[in-house]
Amino acid sequence: MAQQEDVFKKIVSHCKEYGFVFPSSDIYDGLGAVYDYGQNGVELKNNIKQYWWQSMVLLHENIVGIDAAIFMHPTTWKASGHVDAFNDPLIDNRDSKKRYRADVLIEEQMAKYEDKIQKEIEKAQKRFGDSFDEAKFRATNERVLENQKKYDDLHHRFQEVMNAPGGIDLEGMKQIILDEGIVCPISGTRNWTDVRQFNLMFKTEMGSTADGASTIYLRPETAQGIFVNYLNVQKTGRMKLPFGIAQIGKAFRNEIVARQFIFRMREFEQMEMQFFIQPGTELDWFAKWKETRMKWHQNLGFGAENYRFHDHDKLAHYANAATDIEFHMPFGFKEVEGIHSRTNFDLSQHAKYSGKKIEYFDPETNESYTPYVIETSIGVDRMFLSIMCHSYEEQLLPDGQTRTVLHLPAALAPVKLAVFPLTKKDGMPEKAQEIINELRFHFNCKYEEKDQIGKRYRRMDAIGCPYCVTVDQQTLEDNTVTLRDRDTMEQKRVAISDLRSIIEDKVSITSLLKKLL
Ligand code: GAP
Repeated sequence: MAQQEDVFKKIVSHCKEYGFVFPSSDIYDGLGAVYDYGQNGVELKNNIKQYWWQSMVLLHENIVGIDAAIFMHPTTWKASGHVDAFNDPLIDNRDSKKRYRADVLIEEQMAKYEDKIQKEIEKAQKRFGDSFDEAKFRATNERVLENQKKYDDLHHRFQEVMNAPGGIDLEGMKQIILDEGIVCPISGTRNWTDVRQFNLMFKTEMGSTADGASTIYLRPETAQGIFVNYLNVQKTGRMKLPFGIAQIGKAFRNEIVARQFIFRMREFEQMEMQFFIQPGTELDWFAKWKETRMKWHQNLGFGAENYRFHDHDKLAHYANAATDIEFHMPFGFKEVEGIHSRTNFDLSQHAKYSGKKIEYFDPETNESYTPYVIETSIGVDRMFLSIMCHSYEEQLLPDGQTRTVLHLPAALAPVKLAVFPLTKKDGMPEKAQEIINELRFHFNCKYEEKDQIGKRYRRMDAIGCPYCVTVDQQTLEDNTVTLRDRDTMEQKRVAISDLRSIIEDKVSITSLLKKLL
């Protein structure tokens, strides 16, 4: 675990050192859980967005895109339930003055029991080797049984307070924290305040005078921009059910506990798609979208074992099925995407609050009804983090040296080709520029002439550039260059005229999309 934490720290500093992610307002020591994307980060992020957008809008004839404003009419958030219910339970420690999410403190306590069980299992595994029977050990070992009971009891109590009939039981939650003896990690004390609900939406004012100004919110999800445009798109696009609306955009949440770098941010980006369907077909479509979305993730080649579904036990009152796609991050399996069957809740609520009829006339059945919705919702930043975590490697080379390399999927890499003149003379820089001038229209190229070739390769490995080309004396004679592959480090001599055809297919988003069909 400690080793994994070290790796994660290295990834965070690598992101900064190589221009992927900087703390926001860095010269003022940053702003909590807000980050900026640097020169390489923005390219990777744009490529992720393109991969998602094209897989939705290009590959599905019945999915179209929109780009709704961040500011929305305040009634939107009343209708969606966010004003009343988009809350996290928070608790303060009076001694350290630090604020925590009460549910997270309890979840961490459960994780401690799980860790203890896991450690016992690992110890026994080492002791007994191949003859180790985990199921039997779990059923008989006293320490495992004791911790399993503590875990089960706590899990049961936690479920009870979270699912209390009138909403989360805040007093019950505090009692669990006291009974479990959970202490503040900073002060080490149990001097806790009561648990309170905290609304996660950021508020601001629109209008110039205090009297005339009205409170508006920074959207906490992009989905509502799609729901309020359902009629506009359906009518102007003459869309027939089933059809989808996709959108990429910023969302804002005043997270109480913002941790793990870009995993939980206060300003982040979502890629959401609402798929409008006939009522009664939702569970079939839910299953189809689960499969489609998992395929999209696994298509990146990170290994099926690094993904899993986490079906929700507790469903929001408007949902009749929900699952998360989790990815194996250095800090455990974590949610990257949510897939939700949202019934007709959102459209019905907007119809009620706006007084507009929001329905679909089905020409096949001659009936009008409010469509049901399957939503797929993925965080760009979490996707970015999962790609970084999986691609980062500190590799020991056969000659005893090490290199840090990002094995980014070539189609997502910020720079696709680096071109180096071996030396700065004899017309080599000019020849290298000529190659770039020819290829820059097809993919992102970078020119580098500083330092020895070996150092230049290392710099390109560190930003995940899949191909490097070196222009040398022979190039000037026969128009060939050495082409080096990032992952294998193999070099081969190729004609300049062949470079485009060798590289383009491998680095294009199209190559990824074709594998999805
Ligand atoms: N419209 C549904 C919705 O917003 P969600 O599970 O709250 O559902 C969807 O969020 C996705 O947005 C998550 O799976 C995650 O990838 C991303 N996300 C949510 N909160 C985030 C945060 N504070 N920082 C970064 N990404 C976040």
